[in-house]
Amino acid sequence: MGSTVLVTGGAGYIGSAVVKRLLDQGHAVIVIDNLSKGRKELVDERAVFYHLDTTDPKLIEVFKKQPINVVMHFAAYKAVGESMSDPLKYTDNIRGLVNVLDAMVQYKVRRIVFSSTAAVYGMPKAMPITEEHPTAPISYYGFTKLVCEQTLAWYKDVHGIDFVALRYFNVAGDAGLDYVDPAPANLFPIIAEVIGGTRKELTVFGTDYDTPDGSGVRDYVDINDLVDAHIVAIEKGTGIINLGSGSGYSVKDVIAAFEDEAKTKIPVIFGPRRAGDPAAIAASNGKALYIL
Ligand code: WQD
Repeated sequence: MGSTVLVTGGAGYIGSAVVKRLLDQGHAVIVIDNLSKGRKELVDERAVFYHLDTTDPKLIEVFKKQPINVVMHFAAYKAVGESMSDPLKYTDNIRGLVNVLDAMVQYKVRRIVFSSTAAVYGMPKAMPITEEHPTAPISYYGFTKLVCEQTLAWYKDVHGIDFVALRYFNVAGDAGLDYVDPAPANLFPIIAEVIGGTRKELTVFGTDYDTPDGSGVRDYVDINDLVDAHIVAIEKGTGIINLGSGSGYSVKDVIAAFEDEAKTKIPVIFGPRRAGDPAAIAASNGKALYIL
């Protein structure tokens, strides 16, 4: 028997892909999204949709309407640069979660799956990054996610709400829903724009890092694997779990892979390092493999 799942941020890149999979597996799905970045067309028609911000006091009415078994909380602002120039906006990440948790307490919803991020670690001190790596975010965005994780721990202690916080590394790829980020800031969609002809060239941020080819190394995790992990996390796992592939690839590796796949040359400019970028990141994903 399927559960009834409330998905916040269910119109976004990751949320909409999880919604579709939940429905395909026989769960009933309720989506709330403020559509600030998400798109209504991405929400599967089988889901019940509410155009609502997570901070809205009316959220409680959604819980009143039908019994909910589990919450998946994707809704958040996630632009690292913007979080530094407009931190007030990013406090909604924290307020939104607290509003959701209070509704869960009132309506006795016992479990939440939370979208966290590798940004809580800050500059890596040891590699690969395990869940025990110290947390020292270097962006306000990462800080809000860390506060959210700690808030989840409080609600677990005080109210017994069980949580899984999934710390995503660099999520990339296509979940089959034709999601297109209208103003991308990340490597994969930027390369896609260059190949598609809507952007002239790619600037590689830094070529003098202490990495095998001098460009930055990241752990790119396929969105479809990420979706799988969320489906399992509805029932299994507790606490904090990294979601990464466990392997690092450089910017130059990624460009070469795209060129190979698209059979085209990507116009590249070699630029300076981007402020705040670590040289290399790779997840330890043993916990995810074992538990999920
Ligand atoms: C990847 C690599 C860049 C663009 C960010 C957040 C992180 C998470 C995912 C939310 C780096 C290089 C990029 C370009 C480039 N977000 N690059 N030219 O910064 O690793 O992670 O998104 O949770 O918290 O920090 O991702 O895709 O921006 O960069 O050379 O035009 O590509 O320097 O090495 P990042 P990214």
